[in-house]
Order: sequence, then structure tokens, then C-alpha cells
Amino acid sequence: MSVASDQMEESVEHKQHVVNHNHTAHHLKQYFFPTEHVPRLSASDPLASQLIAEEKPVVLTDTNLCDTALKWDLDYLAQHMGSERYMVFLSNNHKFKYYDEAKIKQYKTNFVPPTRRVDLTFPEFVKKLREWKPGDERVYLQQGLNNTVGQAIVMDFLQFNWQWLNMQQKNNNWGPLTSNLLLVGMEGNVTPVHYDEQQNFFSQLVGYKRCILFAPEHYERLYPYPVYHPHDRQSQVDFDDPDMEKFPGLKHLQGMEAVVGPGDVLYIPMYWWHQIESLPHLGNTVSVNFWYKLLAQVDGEEGEEEEEATKFWVRVPASLSLSLSLSLSLSLSLSLSLSLCYLRERERERERERESHQQLSRSLADTYNYNSLWM
Ligand code: FUM
Ligand code: FE
Repeated sequence: MSVASDQMEESVEHKQHVVNHNHTAHHLKQYFFPTEHVPRLSASDPLASQLIAEEKPVVLTDTNLCDTALKWDLDYLAQHMGSERYMVFLSNNHKFKYYDEAKIKQYKTNFVPPTRRVDLTFPEFVKKLREWKPGDERVYLQQGLNNTVGQAIVMDFLQFNWQWLNMQQKNNNWGPLTSNLLLVGMEGNVTPVHYDEQQNFFSQLVGYKRCILFAPEHYERLYPYPVYHPHDRQSQVDFDDPDMEKFPGLKHLQGMEAVVGPGDVLYIPMYWWHQIESLPHLGNTVSVNFWYKLLAQVDGEEGEEEEEATKFWVRVPASLSLSLSLSLSLSLSLSLSLSLCYLRERERERERERESHQQLSRSLADTYNYNSLWM
């Protein structure tokens, strides 16, 4: 067999395997930790509801959550996104590690952001992406869905399966939807391992992503940056070059993983670590995530702040065990109380964002005379 047809065979096989979601070790990059498959289930399977209720990850294959957005490829988005500028990150390598801009100012030590943020119009972004060649900066658009995205996108958004979403929200005692992030990336882009403080229905629209997850019990084995650091919530560990001596807990790391494709929804429970990789050689990717806080978190912000903040803290079991192990150290317990204050402040900040997002969505729903979103 010629080299060319050999490669062809491999790439057909690769696509096939991704479409089948039947990944085997030799197809995907091998890391230093073992993984199990995240269950792939129908949304109507009672086990799926059980996993969500237990805050365990699951890939749902038939939620029809974003059917109207399955057409959001680059051409469609280029044609229909508004003319505003959207948030784009540029990176000199394949990694796009998140950092908190506000914390850069507070953080005393020199901090060099690993990526550069620019605001581009959608056509500017698409041009950069399409003209990319090795050696150029990679690009990743990460824009919250708001009223700047254009009428066609809003109309598609309004036809998402809100009935299913609202049912999940209600059944699991989650607060209102806080925000949606639209992610448009190049094949090979990687969002390094981190955790979020909200429940996430991660909806894959275009292309394929490998999602690697770790339960919150692995908190200490992933060595998060300190909470006041711009890389708060991110792991200090580089999966491409893990320092096993500096981070000995890595030896015991065990994960779960799934490859998601168009129409799949991955439930990423709050506090679960995750690394998300746009698979190489399989084209650009488009995803939208749906973030929810717990009702208890939202209530806490509205009144019983002290009590609820405590509950919230208790929800980070590994952090709690960290707090116990730190109780002997004065300097470290100082950092712990700083992190408690910080967590509360962060929750307040997010609440303000949530309110403005809700107001926006309400005015959108009014504008387009669409009310069922709020029923
Ligand atoms: O790159 C990504 O799709 C990341 C998503 C997330 O962290 O939620
Ligand atoms: Fe995330």
C-alpha cells in the first residue's frame, strides 16, 4: 500500500472511530494516567438522569438541545454573527490556559499571560483561522452569547430545547442559567485542565472534542494554583510534560474521557477537573456551554449569605480536606481565609453577571416576542 493511501486509510479510520465514539488507545494521544469512558446514554435513559443527579459526567446523545445551532459552521457564523468585535485568544502554542485579568493587577509577582486577548470582528477572526500556517499564533474565539451576536443567531438560540434544560434545572435544584459561552476553535487547540464553579451542559455543535475529566476527589493530585493567582482554578500540571517529582500525586491520577461530536451534550459537573482538546486533523470546532449555579449558591447570595457560603465551601470536599491538613500552618491558613473571602466575592461578581445576562435575554425574548424561555 502506498504511503498516501496508507495515510488516507488512517484518516478514514480515524474519522470513523470518532464518529463511532469508540476510541482506542492507539488513536488518541496517550497520557500518563488511566481513563475510563464517560457513559454515552440517551437522555431518556433513567441512568442518565441518575448520573446528573449524582453529579457524575455523562454524554447525552439525543437531547436535541441545540439542533438549530448544528448549522453554526464558520460560513454560517461569518454570515450571521453581528458586526461587533468578539473575544479572541491568540496563543503561540496549542494551549489556551485561562487567566483572570482582574487578578493580574492584584497579583504582586510578575505574571506573563500565556495567551493574548484581542477583540476581532467575526470576519477578521475567520480570516486568521483560515490563513493559519504552522508558526502562526493559533486562535480561539470565546464569546458569551449576548445581544451583539445578531438576529439569526438569537433566533436559533431561542429555539434550543429549553423544555429539557428547564426540566434538568428544576430536577437538580440548579439556579437560573447564568451564561452561555460560544467557543470557536481550530483543530488541535487545547483548553488545559481546570475546574469551573458551575454545572455545565457542554454542547458540541461542529467538529470533535476529546474531553478528559477528573472527579473533585483528585483536587490535590492536580495541584491548583493558589486562589489569588491569575491562574486560579487551573492545574499547575502540564499534561504534555508532567513533572512527576514536583507533583508526586500525579502517580495516582485516574480520569474519565469522552469524544464528543455534533449533537452530543456532555454534562461536566461543577468542580470536576476537565481538559478539552479539539481533536487534531478533524477540522474546526464549535461548542456552546450552558452554565448553572446551584440554587443554594444563588440563595446564599440573596440572603443567608453566611450560612450558604459555608455550605458552598463544604461542597469542595477536597478543599476541605486541604483546609484540615493546613490547619497547622499559620501562613497557609491565612491563604485559606483569603480564599474563603475571595470565593464569596467571586460569587457576588458572578451574580451581577447573571443578572445582566438575564436582563439581556429577557429583552431579547421580548424583542422577538418569545416567552416560553421564561415560563
Ligand atoms: O475549550 C473548551 O471547549 C473548554 C470548555 C470548558 O472548559 O468549559
Ligand atoms: Fe471549563
